[in-house]
Amino acid sequence: MILLVNGPNLNLLGEREPDTYGTTTLPEIEKMVEEACAAYGQPVKAIQSNYEGALLDFLHENRQEAKGVIVNPGALSHTSYALHDCLKALPCPSVEVHLSNVHAREEWRRNDLVAPATRGQVVGLGPTGYYFAAVWLCSQLIAQPAEAAGASEGEVLEVPPTDLEPVVGGDYEG
Ligand code: DQA
Repeated sequence: MILLVNGPNLNLLGEREPDTYGTTTLPEIEKMVEEACAAYGQPVKAIQSNYEGALLDFLHENRQEAKGVIVNPGALSHTSYALHDCLKALPCPSVEVHLSNVHAREEWRRNDLVAPATRGQVVGLGPTGYYFAAVWLCSQLIAQPAEAAGASEGEVLEVPPTDLEPVVGGDYEG
């Protein structure tokens, strides 16, 4: 199971500052991630909350089943040591996504407290960033059993899904 976690204000995607965040809605992003993960046989459990504690509770509750976390913390990226610590406490890897290029905006957005607790980040690529995060996490899950089954040590077996394209509604222009 892959967890898809979206923080404050991301429920307003589609209508919120479309010049910055595009017109793709959160349900469209969740559908895209579900389809990307389904191609690898991974179900997705999604949450969006404007409450930091609700996100932490969700991650705690699902920590045993989770094989990976896709997280856009929204502004919590710039404020939340608690989310940093929570992601660090999980046994699975997480990938942080930002729709906009936070490094090309206000100075305070360049300070990302969550990033050091993640395996990596996809920043500034719009909704497609969620797709890349999903494919990376799922392909890691396939690579691991392949190695256990006798692939040489360190050999990375990236398994591309078939017939899969990012399905993104709206017209993101970030
Ligand atoms: C964001 C970037 C954050 O700085 C901002 O607070 C958001 C959205 C993004 O996806 O670009 O809410 O996480």
